This record gives sequence, C-alpha cells and structure tokens, in this order.
Amino acid sequence: MEAVVICVDGPSGSGKGTLSQRLAEALNYHLLDSGALYRVVGYAALVNGIDWADTESVTQIARSLDVSFHSAEAGVRVTYAGDDVTEAVRSVRGGEGASAVAAIPSVREALLSRQRELACSPGLIADGRDMGTVVFPESPLKIFLEASALARAQRRQSQLQQQGEDVSLPRLLEAIEARDLRDRTRSVSPLVPAEDAVVVDSTTMSADEVFAHVMSLVTQKGLVHSDG
Ligand code: C5P
Repeated sequence: MEAVVICVDGPSGSGKGTLSQRLAEALNYHLLDSGALYRVVGYAALVNGIDWADTESVTQIARSLDVSFHSAEAGVRVTYAGDDVTEAVRSVRGGEGASAVAAIPSVREALLSRQRELACSPGLIADGRDMGTVVFPESPLKIFLEASALARAQRRQSQLQQQGEDVSLPRLLEAIEARDLRDRTRSVSPLVPAEDAVVVDSTTMSADEVFAHVMSLVTQKGLVHSDG
C-alpha cells in the first residue's frame, strides 16, 4: 500500500506543529517537521563558522546533514552530529537562520529527497511551507493553516516562555512579520497555499477545535485506517 501523505502548511505560529503532532499520534503516522531541517542547516552553518549567505558552503551542509529526530515525552528532540540541539534550533535566532538558508534554491533541492524518503507506510504528516506545493504535490489532503500575525506572536511568546526564553511581544511580532514577508515573497517555494489546499484560519480557534475540524476532513477523505 502506498503511504498516505497529509500536508500541513502555513506560517510560523499558526499551530501547524501542534496540529501535526496530534494528527500523527491519532492516525499513527510518521511525522516530518521540515522546518526543523532548515533550522538545523542554519544552526550547523553557525557552529561551523559559515555565513548564511555563503550559498555553496550552506548547500554542502544541507547535503551531508547529520540530523536525527527522536520522540520524547515532552515532544520531539532534534540531534545534530550527536548533540541534542532542540532548544538552540527552536530559538528566535534558530528561526532566523532557517529562514535565511531556506531561501537558497540548492539547499531546498538538497533536502527534497530526505523529506520524500519519510513517506512510508502507513502514512506521513508533513509539516512545513511547501509540502503541498512542491514536496508532496500528489497528497490527497493539504491543509493550509493561517492565523493573524498577532495571534501567532502571542502563541510563540508563551511557547518560548515555557522554554525559559523571555522575548517581548513587539519584538516577536516584528520578527514574525519580517519572516512572513521573506517566506511569502521569496522566488523559490514561496509560502502560498496549494491550489487544492483547504485553508483553515485558526485565529479564534483553540488547538482542540482545529484538530477536530481537520480530523473531520481526514475522515471525509476516507484516510482513517480501519485498524487505526
Ligand atoms: O516551521 P518553522 O518555523 O520551524 O520553520 C522555520 C523556517 O524554515 C521558516 O520560516 C521557513 O523560512 C523555513 N521553512 C521552509 N520550508 C519548509 C519549512 C520551513 O522554507 N517546508
């Protein structure tokens, strides 16, 4: 049986991560956090003294990226070259690095096969920006999760506070708006909904409501396994 891929795209802070984890658990599917891949590339460049604008060296890093993901009680842990880098890559700086390296076409190309390899049975929840438009265009269910920039900044603030990082709301809002603009207007794989994506605006929805809504779409599409 071919693996089913469900795409969850959208801007940062829209709730994609939470939704994707819950879907993966409920359906017993694998999970691809593609943002984490770009974050690790940015981080790896930083610790190796490579400028994010040095496209050739950053592409080399993406091609040979020694990254792995492990499920832990408090969520997925990210390891780079044997070190746990979860907090470092999830920081505001980690997001900036990800966004910078993600604008390099050869970096995106280098990460394509790595992402597609994860589409194995019974299925994959693919969380990102271009899952539905570029990486898995044949996916039978593409969700594009939106939320206002302010709602997303507030969510990110409480997430960072839980990790012990205190960042002011105006600074986060500014960073989110700048990153949105970069992600939406870049020439390669810009952040846009796929033509056949279902756009869900989560601004006034709780995580439970978003999950229930998307699960009803999953059921409508007949993507729930009888044994799952
Ligand atoms: O989702 P997350 O906030 O971890 O993504 C970090 C950055 O990585 C995004 O701002 C975006 O620039 C980039 N990214 C991307 N394509 C993806 C996933 C993330 O360009 N599929």
